Amino acid sequence: MICIINFKTYPAGTGKKALQLARICERVAKREHANIAIAVQATDIRMISQHVEIPVLAQHVDDLEQGAHTGWAIPEAIKEAGAIGSLVNHSEHPLPLATIKETIKRLHALGLISVACAPTPSMEAKIAKFKPDLVAIEPPELIGGKISVSQAEPQIITQSLRRVNGIPLLCGAGIHTKRDVSKATQLGAQGILVASGVVNAKNPEKVLTQLVRRRV
Ligand code: G3P
Repeated sequence: MICIINFKTYPAGTGKKALQLARICERVAKREHANIAIAVQATDIRMISQHVEIPVLAQHVDDLEQGAHTGWAIPEAIKEAGAIGSLVNHSEHPLPLATIKETIKRLHALGLISVACAPTPSMEAKIAKFKPDLVAIEPPELIGGKISVSQAEPQIITQSLRRVNGIPLLCGAGIHTKRDVSKATQLGAQGILVASGVVNAKNPEKVLTQLVRRRV
């Protein structure tokens, strides 16, 4: 089971606090032998990737070549900073389909992984054609809420699985408990994408441990 924690731009996921949280995620990954990766802000990639061994992802990359462009985060830069890949088309940073295709291509050309996000199974099917390494289904209306996609809209997971041609599927939005995770994996998801349930938790280590702990 793959667990990606998206730090977003939450205060607890920014700067020194992001490093503290990254170290917690690494501690849980090592103790629980769990596949945990973190998606952090571009400004934190270098610092965090130099201090933890778990995979660090960018939350977004811009599909621009190196050169006279100001104020962007391109694949070469996140790679040099230590990221192993990036989220693409997160619903909080949506992209046109053509840009999604080119961004996935640029990431792969640099040996970086792509985690392509989609709000609906039909969009997932279109994005799967670009062969990202992972796809993530996240109904925007459930993001940041207390009801998980696996509980509220389980059919979205099964519909997505049928349309992604075997690409590993993560599901996200509202995931807070082991029950949310178990339901998602029982439906066929290979992992989860989680943010507020961990990043804003009073005890992120306890919550993350519960989410990734294999049944005893
Ligand atoms: O990228 C994952 C994120 O969009 C899910 O947010 O707060 O519902 O876990 P949240």
